[in-house]
Amino acid sequence: MTNIRSQELWTRAQKVIPGGVNSPVRAMASVGLTPPFIKSAQGCRVMDVDGNKYIDCVGSWGPLILGHAHPEVVEAVTKAAEKGTSFGASTQAEVEFAEKLCASVPSLEQVRLVSSGTEATMSAIRLARGATGRNKIIKFEGCYHGHSDGLLVAAGSGLITLGIPSSPGVPEEMTSLTLNLPYNDLDAITQAFEQHSREIAAVIVEPVAGNMGVVPPAPGFLEGLRALCDKYGTILIFDEVITGFRLALGGAQEHFGITPDLTCLGKIIGGGLPVAAYGGKKDIMSQIAPCGPVYQAGTLSGNPLATAAGLAVLELLQGYGVYDQLEEKAARLFSGMLELFEEKGLDHTGNRVGSMFTVFFQKGPVTDYASAAKSDTELFARYYRALLAKGVYMAPSPFEATFVSLAHQEDDIDQILGVCNQALEEITS
Ligand SMILES: Cc1ncc(COP(=O)(O)O)c(C=O)c1O
Repeated sequence: MTNIRSQELWTRAQKVIPGGVNSPVRAMASVGLTPPFIKSAQGCRVMDVDGNKYIDCVGSWGPLILGHAHPEVVEAVTKAAEKGTSFGASTQAEVEFAEKLCASVPSLEQVRLVSSGTEATMSAIRLARGATGRNKIIKFEGCYHGHSDGLLVAAGSGLITLGIPSSPGVPEEMTSLTLNLPYNDLDAITQAFEQHSREIAAVIVEPVAGNMGVVPPAPGFLEGLRALCDKYGTILIFDEVITGFRLALGGAQEHFGITPDLTCLGKIIGGGLPVAAYGGKKDIMSQIAPCGPVYQAGTLSGNPLATAAGLAVLELLQGYGVYDQLEEKAARLFSGMLELFEEKGLDHTGNRVGSMFTVFFQKGPVTDYASAAKSDTELFARYYRALLAKGVYMAPSPFEATFVSLAHQEDDIDQILGVCNQALEEITS
C-alpha cells in the first residue's frame, strides 16, 4: 500500500492548517500514522488519493448510517442545489423536516435547526439556563458535547486520545459552573443535587456514551436522572447527536423509554451535511427568540441542501425493518470480533448498543471514563496500523465507537473479520 500522495498533502496541510487537520482526532498521531487523504467514497468503501480502498467503519464519525453517497440522498441534494444553495429565509422543506423530527423523537414538540452538534448542545444549555434562571450544569466525565467552553471539561475521546486534560482558552469561571461527575454513578449525582439543590439548570448526558468508547447506561441510570431532574426542577438534556436515529427512529429515548426535556440531534439527521437540531417541550422551546428572550440564531440554519439531505435520510430510515437489519449486521460483526480476541487470548471486553460498539483493549468491565481509560493504547495503536494497512478504516482511537451502516453487506462484514484476524495475529505473534 503506497501513500505518496497522502504524504505530500500531509506536508502541505501542516503548513497551512494547524496540525494539518480541521478536527484533532483526524491527525492519527496517537497511532503513529500519516492520515490517508480521502478522495471519494461509495457505500461502505472509501478511497484515498493514492488509490487505496478501505472498508469504512467510521461513517464520518456516525452520520452515514446509509453509507456514503446514497443515490437518493445525492439526488435530493443535487436537486436542491439547482434551486439555490442558501436563502437565509423560511422554506417548505424546513417545515417538513421539523415535522418529521417531531413525529419521530418522543421528546420533541418543537425543534430549532442549527449547523453542528456543538451549536445544538451549546444552545440547549443556554435555553435551560434561561428557562430555569439557574447557572450550574451537570455533565459526565468522558461524555463529549462539542467544544463550547462550559462543556469542555473531561470531554471524551479527542481530549483523552491527545492527552489534553481540558483546554487553555476556557476560563475557569466558565467551567466552574459545570459539575463534572462519573457516568453511571447515581450516588454521586444524588449528592451533587443535595449539595447544590436548586442551582442546577440542566443535566446533559449522552444516553449511550459514544465518546469514551461505547458505554451503555447502567440499568436505572437514565431513570434515576429523570427522577432527580423532576424532583429538583432541573432540565434533563439528552445529547443524541450520535444516538439519534441510530438506535431507533426515536433515538435512545425510544430505545430506553425515558423522555428528556430537551434533545440535541446532529450527525445522522443531516446525512453527512452540516445540520443539527435541539428541541423539546413547547413551553421550554417558546423561551427562544423571537417568541422568547433566549437568543440563538444562524445564517445557514435550515440550509436547503442540508435539509434536503436530512429529509431523504429520514424517509429511508422509516423503511420497513431498517433497525432490525442494523441490529443483525452489528451483532454479527461485534460477536465475530469478540471471538477473534478470545481466540488470540487477548484481554478485552466489548460494549454494544444497536449499531454502535467498542471492543476495548482490557479485561473490563467498562462502565465509565475511569474504567475506559485503562485500555492498552499502545497495543491498540499496533492493531490499528495493521488494520489500516490491510484495508479496514476504523476510528484511530481506542475510545471511539465502531459504526455499522446499512451499506455493510455480509461479504463486507466477513472481510472486516478476516482483516481483524490477520491484524490480531500480527500483534500477538
Ligand atoms: C454526543 C456528541 N455531541 C455533540 C457533538 C458535537 O458535534 P459537532 O462535531 O457536529 O459539533 C459530538 C461530536 O462528535 C458528539 O459525539
